[in-house]
Amino acid sequence: MQGHIIPSFPVFRPRRLRQSPALRRLVSETQLNPRQLVLPLFVRPGRKVRQPVGAMPGVFQLSPDELLKEATEAFRLGVPAILLFGLPAKKDERASEAFARNGIVQQTVRLLKKELPELLVITDVCLCEYMSHGHCGVVHSGKKGTRILNDPTLKILARTAVSHAEAGADIVAPSDMMDGRVRAIRAELDRCGLADTPIISYAAKFASAFYGPFREAAESTPQFGDRRSYQMDPANAEEALREVALDIEEGADMVMVKPALAYLDLVWRVKTTFGYPTAVYAVSAEYSMIKAAAARGWVDEKAITLESLLAMRRAGADIIITYAAREAIRWLNE
Ligand code: PBG
Repeated sequence: MQGHIIPSFPVFRPRRLRQSPALRRLVSETQLNPRQLVLPLFVRPGRKVRQPVGAMPGVFQLSPDELLKEATEAFRLGVPAILLFGLPAKKDERASEAFARNGIVQQTVRLLKKELPELLVITDVCLCEYMSHGHCGVVHSGKKGTRILNDPTLKILARTAVSHAEAGADIVAPSDMMDGRVRAIRAELDRCGLADTPIISYAAKFASAFYGPFREAAESTPQFGDRRSYQMDPANAEEALREVALDIEEGADMVMVKPALAYLDLVWRVKTTFGYPTAVYAVSAEYSMIKAAAARGWVDEKAITLESLLAMRRAGADIIITYAAREAIRWLNE
């Protein structure tokens, strides 16, 4: 490899630097730090609601009051940011609750920014939780079957992002994968006097089986078909780089690769190609698989979680979105 001069005499003995914890720490190349972790949280209407998500032990659908408690606790522990998903009281075919001034996310953002101003609130901007059919865009049913319409969806996404930012969201995170959404959202934010709200785009988001447990948490399973006409084919890496380039060109301030572990090659390529702040989303099944195996005593939950997160950092991720943020911080502080 270029630049790697390995002396053959005297014999190079890599184990010399592994002899003690202090030596190993001295030459450690990658750091995992609490300030890099983002915790996803799910809010639903009501009071004192803590509805466990079956497929994600430790994850709950929370009413705003409970979410504030959870966020406060996480912030005290050292979690710098949360990623907020909303479950509206009602779904329809226009996703009206997604951009309602008093929608569940908007209310919760206001509450969080009032009570916990220093916690960064990132809002997921997508329509699947708000659409009765569970797709991330407007559905058109015609002679040739159903299609997800791109441009009509952009308007709704842009309105949604503005409503989140107006409520006080620190960062908006479009996760829908429609073409041109970053440009549309940036333009609408700017037009509404919200030029300072950054966008973190789910730039390379794959149509992945690793989202399975999330769809129970967010009640966003598509009622028909799948998401392969908008999310990316897991086979494609070059295309992922084009997606990232487009989002940057359209005004994304930070970019994301999702899922994480199975896509670390892309984290590396995105970081080295663009040098942008790069996030990775360790998605629901990545979390649930570890929980399930740990519950059976098959893996060491702490070791496997920290090793996974470290690998994401080593691949180039600056920011890691993970349901295990709190546990990870507790373990890092031990
Ligand atoms: C919304 C969205 C999804 C996830 C984040 N935002 C689900 C999907 O695209 O089907 C998945 C997150 C996870 O699995 O943890 N579009």
